Amino acid sequence: MSALRLDSVSISFGPLHAVEDLSIQLQPGEVYALLGPNGAGKTTTLNMILGFLRPERGSITVAGVDALTDPLGARARIGYLPETVMLHPTLSAIENLTYFALLAGRKIDVTTARKLLGEAGLQSDAHERHSGSFSKGMRQKVGVAIALAKEANLLLLDEPTSGLDASAANDLSNVIRAASSRGIAVLMATHDLFRVKDVAHRLGILRSGKLVDERDAATLDPVALEQLYLQRLAS
Ligand SMILES: Nc1ncnc2c1ncn2[C@@H]1O[C@H](COP(=O)(O)OP(=O)(O)O)[C@@H](O)[C@H]1O
Ligand SMILES: [Mg+2]
Repeated sequence: MSALRLDSVSISFGPLHAVEDLSIQLQPGEVYALLGPNGAGKTTTLNMILGFLRPERGSITVAGVDALTDPLGARARIGYLPETVMLHPTLSAIENLTYFALLAGRKIDVTTARKLLGEAGLQSDAHERHSGSFSKGMRQKVGVAIALAKEANLLLLDEPTSGLDASAANDLSNVIRAASSRGIAVLMATHDLFRVKDVAHRLGILRSGKLVDERDAATLDPVALEQLYLQRLAS
């Protein structure tokens, strides 16, 4: 069963075709980079998968659950990291994780919380600290730990590398690999080509709401990827 399947999905905002006839499929553990410049329709696509926006045409299933007829059921299978992962600033990492896991219907104890935060790459001296002081990279790690606690089938990342320094971006790549190796499919939307090659198995290029290319990441070196990207956006 696919972790995610979009079939001919379209949505418009007035006269603007924000996403048009988009089909994407991700297998469990697959890491897919949805590339495209600002305004290409990446966030709109994630919002449709999450059930925040309803497509006019097409179908979306998350781990076999129809996201249009059962948006809550679909969302229960998704870990979502928006551009800014929102945590309760006065709660510690452990408390945030326990709280959000509980909202998702999973009761976890402190030992499990520590273990999941560790797996998500958060250093142990931060587990008890208030998350108000956390960097973007640290908040992302708590977000990934929440996805692990939910036993999500799919992780959605929106512009995950924007505002990360090199070391935090490297950590993020490792966390994505760890999620993937646990069978979690990862869809990352980004305009940042740098590092995509590092973690993605497959990549798609979105231009004005249309998927204009899709390929195995292994077939491209970084220079070829940049050339392909520029070419697909220009032609
Ligand atoms: N709620 C909305 N109402 C009207 N237009 C929107 C709305 N959301 C997004 N758009 C437009 O749809 C297009 C795609 O936006 P978006 O999905 O945010 O792009 P990306 O995430 O790739 O930068 C843009 O032209 C944007 O202005
Ligand atoms: Mg966006």
